[in-house]
Order: sequence, then structure tokens, then C-alpha cells
Amino acid sequence: HAAEAQRTDLMTITRHVLNEQGRHPESRGDFTILLSHIVLGCKFVASAVNKAGLAKLIGLAGDTNVQGEEQKKLDVLSNEVFVKALVSSGRTCVLVSEENEEAIIVDAPLRGKYCVCFDPLDGSSNIDCGVSIGTIFGIYMIKDKDNVTLDDVLQPGTDMLAAGYCMYGSSCTLVLSTGNGVNGFTLDPSLGEFILTHPNIKIPNRGKIYSVNEGNAKNWDAPTAKFVEKCKFPQDGSPSKSLRYIGSMVADVHRTLLYGGIFLYPADQKSPNGKLRVLYEVFPMSFLMEQAGGQAFTGKQRALELVPRKIHDRSPIFLGSYDDVEDIKALYASES
Ligand code: AHG
Ligand code: MN
Ligand code: MN
Ligand code: MN
Repeated sequence: HAAEAQRTDLMTITRHVLNEQGRHPESRGDFTILLSHIVLGCKFVASAVNKAGLAKLIGLAGDTNVQGEEQKKLDVLSNEVFVKALVSSGRTCVLVSEENEEAIIVDAPLRGKYCVCFDPLDGSSNIDCGVSIGTIFGIYMIKDKDNVTLDDVLQPGTDMLAAGYCMYGSSCTLVLSTGNGVNGFTLDPSLGEFILTHPNIKIPNRGKIYSVNEGNAKNWDAPTAKFVEKCKFPQDGSPSKSLRYIGSMVADVHRTLLYGGIFLYPADQKSPNGKLRVLYEVFPMSFLMEQAGGQAFTGKQRALELVPRKIHDRSPIFLGSYDDVEDIKALYASES
């Protein structure tokens, strides 16, 4: 009977969040409505990604974004879908997207109390070859709905009240935290619903995998170089770590979250602040890692304590298993 009951007791992401929101009697379901619009965007992108090659969605859009990157058609399409879904939810006030140079301030009639920072399509370089890509988002509460300023999103990651990502891979998995642990949901295409498949994700305290673009090795600073050297040639006789690097942050972080290990995008001489953007890559992934029992470090401080000055600010990032990040923190501490 239990199996039967289990099968019919569908824990959808909406139901799960409603249960969690029950802990906030003051919330009038606004967050649940916001989340349902983010989920709508993810379902749209999942279907577009699954037929990208067929729907002539691969290749360049012919524009470049504020990052100086050539926009892919799917970058632009996903961005449009998320902007429209978030604005029409009537629950957002400020939107920051990787693909928009300026923050979007929602017109007063549709204004709500949440600010959403998002990377509509992460891992664009992997679109055309069919390797996993994703969407990343982080959510702040607005300070004063009648006086909206950029300051509402130039806040430390510790002020985020929720964060998550959706990975478009062999299955479509949405990982979310609203500050009370991390849960993973898998899209059941036959229902069009995200079903709870990974309750209460906890990252192992130490892992056997390191994840970094070794092609940047000549530009690394000493602590990063020393850390990677120790992964490959451990001095304490322990086995070497495996290198796994997909090049889509969502996929590299998802594997790190489930298997343990460490993901690094260090600073280097070329880019002193690293490559990854604070508001919609570093903060959401750091939030999730801490909620799952791991940690996230910039080389100088706890990643979530960074205060961005501009909406596309970047930061070096080392995140993953608690003890693995401790090792790199010790190397930076001994260097300073
Ligand atoms: P995006 O596609 O949203 O611009 O992000 C790409 C990022 C991130 O997904 C990944 O970790 C990193 O770029 C890979 O950078 P390198 O190719 O320099 O290793
Ligand atoms: Mn990009
Ligand atoms: Mn990205
Ligand atoms: Mn992107």
C-alpha cells in the first residue's frame, strides 16, 4: 500500500513551497506565485532546449551582450521568456539579467515585492553541442516598493531569501532553497510538473573531484596553483582527485552538490575578479552550497558577504564540500 500511496501522493514543487510557506503565516502566497512563474520559464526553456536543433535554435543571435559575449539565439529567447514571465507575475519589482545591460524596473501597476537576479541560460558555449546547460536565479525582498532603487539588488548574498537553478540535461532538474535546506525536483514531462525527487540535499563533507578550467593554469595565483597541485599530487599519500569540468556552471555545481568535491573559478591575471557574475551565478550557487552544508569562498571572504557595487560585478569563487573549501581557505590565509 505504501508504494501505491507514495505513487499517488505527488509532491509537486508548488505543493512543497506552499508547505514551506506555511511557516510564514504573513506570506499571502506571493512567493508561491512568483515561483510558479519561474517554473513556467524553466518548462519553456526545457522544451526549447530539447528541440533546439530541430527548431533552428542553435547558433548565434547576431548580437553581443554587456559581457561582450556573442549572444546565442537561446540566450535571447530564454531571456525574453523569463523577463515576460517575471513581469507578468505581478510579484516582481527589479529584475537583473545577465543579458540586459541595465536592471529592469517593473512599471508600478505590475510591481510586486521581490527582486529577481537571473542567468536565463548558463553554459551558452555548450548549447550547440547538446551538453547540459541551465538557468540560475536568486531572489531578494524589495526594501520599499514606492521607492525602488538599484540598491535593492546591490545587497550581500546573505540578504537573498531564496535561490535555485534548473539544469536542462538528460532530465530537467530544478534545485531550490528558500533558506530551509535544499530540495531537488525533476520535471515529469507526462504531467508537466516538477516532482520532489531529491529531498533535503546535503553535500558530502569532502569529495574526490575538483572542477576547474585547467586551461587557465598559467594565469593562476599561488594559492590556487598550490591547491590544484595538491589535488593532482597529494603529499599525504591519499589518492589523487579526479578532474571533472563541463563548462556549464549549473552542471558542474549540480555534480558537486550531489557527489561532493570543489568547483573553482579563480581570479587570474587576465580577469582579476574571475569570470562568474556575483548576483546571478556566485550568490545563488553559494546560497545553495551553504544551505546544503557546504561553503563558498572568494579567496578573500565568505562569498555571500560580498557587497556588489554594480549589477554585473564578478568575483572569484571556490565552492563545494566544507572540508575541501577549508583547504583552499588555509592556503589563501597562509599567503596573505
Ligand atoms: P554563461 O553561459 O551564462 O555566460 O556562463 C558561462 C560560465 C559558466 O557557466 C561556466 O562555469 C563558465 O562560464 C565557463 O567558463 P570557461 O569557458 O572560461 O571555463
Ligand atoms: Mn553569457
Ligand atoms: Mn552563466
Ligand atoms: Mn548566461
